[in-house]
Amino acid sequence: MNQRSPWQRTHTCGELTIGNKDQDVVLNGWIENHRHHGQLVFLDLRDRYGVTQIVVDQEAKGMAAGTFDIVRRLGAEDVLSVAGRVRPRDADKVNRNRSTGEIELVALTVIVLSEAETPPFEILDKVEANEELRMQYRYLDLRRRPLQEALMKRARFVTAIRNFLQQNRFIDIETPIMTKSTPEGARDYLVPSRVHPGKFFALPQSPQIFKQLCMVAGLDRYYQIARCFRDEDLRADRQPEFTQIDLEMSFVEEHDVLDVVEAMFVHGMKEGFGIDVPQPFPRLDFFDAMDRYGCDKPDLRFGMTLVNCTELAQKSDFKVFSGAVATGGIVKGICAVGAADKFSRKGIDELTAFVVQLGAKGLAWAKVTAAGVEGSIAKFFEGDKGKELCAHMEAKPGDLLLFVADQKKVVHKALGDLRLKVGGILGLRDPKVFRGCWVLNFPMFEWNSEKARWQFAHNPFSAPVNWDITDFSVDTETIRSRAYDFVMNGWELGSGSIRIHRPSLQAKVFEFLGISPELQAANFGFLLDAYKYGGPPHGGIALGVDRIVTLALGRESIRDVIAFPKTSTAFDLMASAPGDVSSEQMAELQILSTAKKSV
Ligand code: AMO
Ligand code: AMP
Repeated sequence: MNQRSPWQRTHTCGELTIGNKDQDVVLNGWIENHRHHGQLVFLDLRDRYGVTQIVVDQEAKGMAAGTFDIVRRLGAEDVLSVAGRVRPRDADKVNRNRSTGEIELVALTVIVLSEAETPPFEILDKVEANEELRMQYRYLDLRRRPLQEALMKRARFVTAIRNFLQQNRFIDIETPIMTKSTPEGARDYLVPSRVHPGKFFALPQSPQIFKQLCMVAGLDRYYQIARCFRDEDLRADRQPEFTQIDLEMSFVEEHDVLDVVEAMFVHGMKEGFGIDVPQPFPRLDFFDAMDRYGCDKPDLRFGMTLVNCTELAQKSDFKVFSGAVATGGIVKGICAVGAADKFSRKGIDELTAFVVQLGAKGLAWAKVTAAGVEGSIAKFFEGDKGKELCAHMEAKPGDLLLFVADQKKVVHKALGDLRLKVGGILGLRDPKVFRGCWVLNFPMFEWNSEKARWQFAHNPFSAPVNWDITDFSVDTETIRSRAYDFVMNGWELGSGSIRIHRPSLQAKVFEFLGISPELQAANFGFLLDAYKYGGPPHGGIALGVDRIVTLALGRESIRDVIAFPKTSTAFDLMASAPGDVSSEQMAELQILSTAKKSV
């Protein structure tokens, strides 16, 4: 039985080809474009699937009465039903950029399903309107193809991930959204309880504790495409609510988690985006990554690794070098292959300003020539000394050498970022190339100088590399955890660890972090209790979906791959959220606000 009403579409706007020639069809969609040429009107009708050109010819035989008058009054974004006949275009009118470019639809009946006011901005693939306006009218912005494409590919990616995990015996389990504060290190979003006045739920910063409890429950392999909420300072790669591929496995070591996640990711990238990611991903020790790339999220699309020159520097006459070493610092350099003639003096001055703004005192440089080295350090590296330096840096004539001398932390920050900058200038960071890696064995704790105390580096549930450790206060900075990050093209895409599953060890970590037994009991008592009843060894990871999609599609911000994102001040411009609530609601919740009302 055909249930289609006459106005309803027989085809989408992306579907008709020369194969549909002479067929009578109905299309539904929005007017992207209209051009009037006397007795002829051309319309581009758009839907999610594509655009089809409609021709309305005043003289056309069989056109419904009044149709041309309707068409004359149409405006952009009106919603139409167009019934007509498919006609091949003349050879010189074929549009090769469109799947429907070989045909056009000669309209016989046009029905206006909905009239549109003039939109506040033109809906173009290449945006011109400012982002605030577009976020206010997000539903209009979402009519743009680049955004629709991002959402469709995102959905395909997530579906591929679900299928993969399902096939690998993971169980999709929903964990609570209204819960208790979880320790991911950001501020919580709180939800007041009416039934329990003065008490608050916290929205989960991650499902961390619940997924660990799933392991205690014996569920063995958990996953969730989980929404997480964090009240933190936003950047291009952060949103207050975002989505994780969250998983946890029992009876595993690092390599079990890494292997399955790598295979899952590669599968998702192929299915979702048609991207072939080369495997295997190198597995780097945290300190090796820091030594060679100056950071814990290395971009492996290119080399230019940091070379330690401290020994050479120590014996040099260049005070900047020897002086830094004498005060406990180090000297490192990078070699930009073939880049000597790519940077003028002004170019090098800009690089110098760049590292100075990162805390370095300057940038020593040399251009390698057949005769030796030229540049700010040349007079200290004449003859054999220059040759020795070049050999150490594996530099050849035409290369540019850049050095920073300082305390290790400064050198790594300055040269690590400089490596990325120079790599970018030299075109070595091709957005179409994808290189993943794992960084393993992160330090367990980091020093918070503001609060003058140690804090956990990943999360307080990560196990130490040494299970038998008893005292965390000895050589704290050298204690490593079984935490790992998943990194691609310089982005941290995921983070996880093998967890502590013994209550006594977990309590020791909390104690070292200054979390009193009372606070432990109040905040994590249920987890510590759970371990008393048989917690299996387990580990897991969470990958940021928004970041993965942004990177895969080469977009600038994760806002570009989220249907309804928030601004950089965590505000929803479309819904005006967060917003005021009525005094009745506040009274019911027994809440008084001390905030000054903005007028
Ligand atoms: P972590 O806090 O490192 O680990 O988060 C894991 C991944 O989630 C993504 N991510 C974000 N994406 C967008 N906006 C944000 N504000 C944001 N914050 C994090 C990143 C990050 O790598 N429970 C642990 C995981 C575990 O140990 O299993 C956790 O949440 O891609
Ligand atoms: P100066 O002796 O201060 O004139 O510096 C000579 C060169 O060394 C200049 O190119 C400076 O940018 C550079 N320089 C100064 N301090 C450092 C440092 N700590 N590390 C690397 N280069 C430096």
